[in-house]
Amino acid sequence: MPQPIISAHQLTQTIPLNNKVFTILNEINLEIYAGEQVAITGRSGSGKSTLLGILATLDQPSSGEVWVCGEAVHQLSEEARAKVRLENIGFVFQSFQLLPHLSALENVMLPLRLQPHFGYREAEQKALSWLKRVGLERQALQTPKVLSGGEQQRVAIARALIASPKIIFADEPTGNLDGQTAHEIETLLFELNRELGTTLILVTHDSKLAEMCQRRLQLVDGQLLEDSLTNNKSSQNRMLNELTSTLVDQVEDGT
Ligand SMILES: Nc1ncnc2c1ncn2[C@@H]1O[C@H](COP(=O)(O)OP(=O)(O)O)[C@@H](O)[C@H]1O
Ligand SMILES: [Mg+2]
Repeated sequence: MPQPIISAHQLTQTIPLNNKVFTILNEINLEIYAGEQVAITGRSGSGKSTLLGILATLDQPSSGEVWVCGEAVHQLSEEARAKVRLENIGFVFQSFQLLPHLSALENVMLPLRLQPHFGYREAEQKALSWLKRVGLERQALQTPKVLSGGEQQRVAIARALIASPKIIFADEPTGNLDGQTAHEIETLLFELNRELGTTLILVTHDSKLAEMCQRRLQLVDGQLLEDSLTNNKSSQNRMLNELTSTLVDQVEDGT
């Protein structure tokens, strides 16, 4: 039986507020399997970014357990979590978060430059082919300020995918884009997700974007509710994943 790629047990996040304790996430339990596409929706301020930050190992919960790719990340130091992140996780933000003084090419190269076994030339070649894949070959040497919002998000997507992460987290990836550009970015994200089989965890306000995901979760009062309409699809997906992994095991064992 495959293990979830992400699991959370009794995950709670609280912050001190005016001498009281404010609970953002309240004992959340969650399992996500490799290859799933999961949308997390909820009102503004419901804790979506907080939850994503914890699942992506950027932040630590106040209590509870978070397992990512087999690692008990709630017990790891910041340094050890950074290693888990570098090897397994790509992130796309609403505000793109490109480094302003680096070219598009250098921004995309960054995750590989942080891994010592990648040489400069290899990183450059890979980054160029990623820029080509997202349609920005000609803009490789431009800095972010001369690129449009949609182009900046394409650079961010290439950067998120260049190190072949197992999981992509996207926090309102189309929130700062106009309708047509948002649609192009959504299409690109889902296309790449299908091509690479990456697990996609997407926070969005946009119900159309959420509906493109196999599984939808909603944050309400610190709790995570599963959209029951999608449960069947999600368990079918899980069964398919189990079947695939059993078949792969059998092929590898020669049985
Ligand atoms: N570091 C922080 N300090 C104080 N309040 C915070 C902090 N992070 C988040 N919050 C509060 O927690 C709640 C959830 O925030 P957030 O996760 O950003 O929600 P969402 O992404 O759903 O809009 C909000 O009320 C926000 O103001
Ligand atoms: Mg948010």
